[in-house]
Amino acid sequence: MNNVQQENAQQKKIIFSCQPGGCLTGVIRVPGDKSISHRSIMLGALAEGRTHITGFLEGEDAIATLNAFRAMGVKIEGPNDAELTVHGVGLHGLKAPVESIDLGNSGTAMRLMSGLLAGQQFNVTLTGDASLSKRPMKRVIEPLTKMGAVIDSKPDGTPPLTISGGQKLTGIDYVMPMASAQVKSSLLLAGLFAEGATCVAEPATTRDHTERMLKGFGYTVENYPLNSLSNPLSNSLPTKKGTKVCLLGGGKLKATNIDVPGDISSAAFFIVGACITNNSDVTLQHVGINPTRIGVVNILRLMGADISISNERDIGGEPVGDIRVRSSQLKGIIIPKDQVPLAIDEFPVIFIAAACAEGDTVLEGAEELRVKESDRIQVMADALSNVGVKARPTVDGMVISGSEIKGGEVDSCGDHRIAMAMSIAALRSQAPITIHDCANVNTSFPGFAKMANSLGHNIRVNVV
Ligand code: S3P
Repeated sequence: MNNVQQENAQQKKIIFSCQPGGCLTGVIRVPGDKSISHRSIMLGALAEGRTHITGFLEGEDAIATLNAFRAMGVKIEGPNDAELTVHGVGLHGLKAPVESIDLGNSGTAMRLMSGLLAGQQFNVTLTGDASLSKRPMKRVIEPLTKMGAVIDSKPDGTPPLTISGGQKLTGIDYVMPMASAQVKSSLLLAGLFAEGATCVAEPATTRDHTERMLKGFGYTVENYPLNSLSNPLSNSLPTKKGTKVCLLGGGKLKATNIDVPGDISSAAFFIVGACITNNSDVTLQHVGINPTRIGVVNILRLMGADISISNERDIGGEPVGDIRVRSSQLKGIIIPKDQVPLAIDEFPVIFIAAACAEGDTVLEGAEELRVKESDRIQVMADALSNVGVKARPTVDGMVISGSEIKGGEVDSCGDHRIAMAMSIAALRSQAPITIHDCANVNTSFPGFAKMANSLGHNIRVNVV
């Protein structure tokens, strides 16, 4: 597509018209994990040698990362049927892009690449769409600046970001104020280019794909107790294990092969869909079940869901399994706070499970939802009330009462996961649900409506 065609496509509005009722049955494989797909391109590009990737997510977010590295001189063949070959240029082989890099809707791409680019010799500007241009970047700018990076943003810390090259980075020992895998990963990627040790402590466990994949590329990454390593410039790592992750700069990444598992965040829509409807029985094959990602399964099981995991195996350092879900009567719960970061992307659809459960479900400690692709607390509260569900937003969460879902019109506000979650609500609604502004479903789950329909849903995709 040329620029004009791209603009035209962006101007097109996609509306999902979802017929009420139904159940889900069948065996499917959802597209590849978005977080792992981004990281496979980034580390493949920085590695020495050729990295072959299968199961890559051909969604707009991961493609934005792929295009960014092409623009910095990395030869990438594919994607063809989710397969790619990345010809790594080594840690110091990236070239200055000719123009600024547009990362579309992807917060992961922008935050991780800020760290990775902070240690380069050239300047680069990162831009994004309307949603990304409103997202907070101070959370990476501040610690990266402490490491020696020079990054300009708008005065309120939002994109575009201009990263000035040629800086000398030094490792830091950083305690994150929020539980964020994106911040942790950004600092670890900067740490590859820094002198000495870079350590990041998290207030709660977050997804650990960066650490696992770095190890897969032959890089040493260790966990330590919070109070260890007072001297970040130390050239050796302490020996005790704990909750802080550290690496030493100046190593090398060796190319490897990566098989990206199915995205549990995409599987979550069908997991909830099968839970909330009678006569459902769905098996999702080859899904990533990394313990730092399975909050949605843990929360639904606490609500009484019938979910079993079989064929558990390890694929390139990531746990994978087949998830079978059958109909169940859910009950409202108080969601345990330690599960929040482990299910952070799944709350829009967990709210649908809560709407179909008996009694109240209470979520607290999830203020991060307010700064995702949309304010997911407010936008979901509005969408749920529009279809007749009693939902009370709070500063850091929501209280949802099990209710009848009547149907109606909702606005996803351009947020892919809200569009998909509200389409799942239609499986239990009495009248159709029409969802506006659904084009961004393609950022994480191209082919969502087709796959949902193959399992028994009835979503019509209208382009206007
Ligand atoms: C991601 C981390 C999460 C998640 C995002 C992807 C990642 O964000 O919401 O969709 O790939 O590291 P935070 O780490 O900011 O919570």
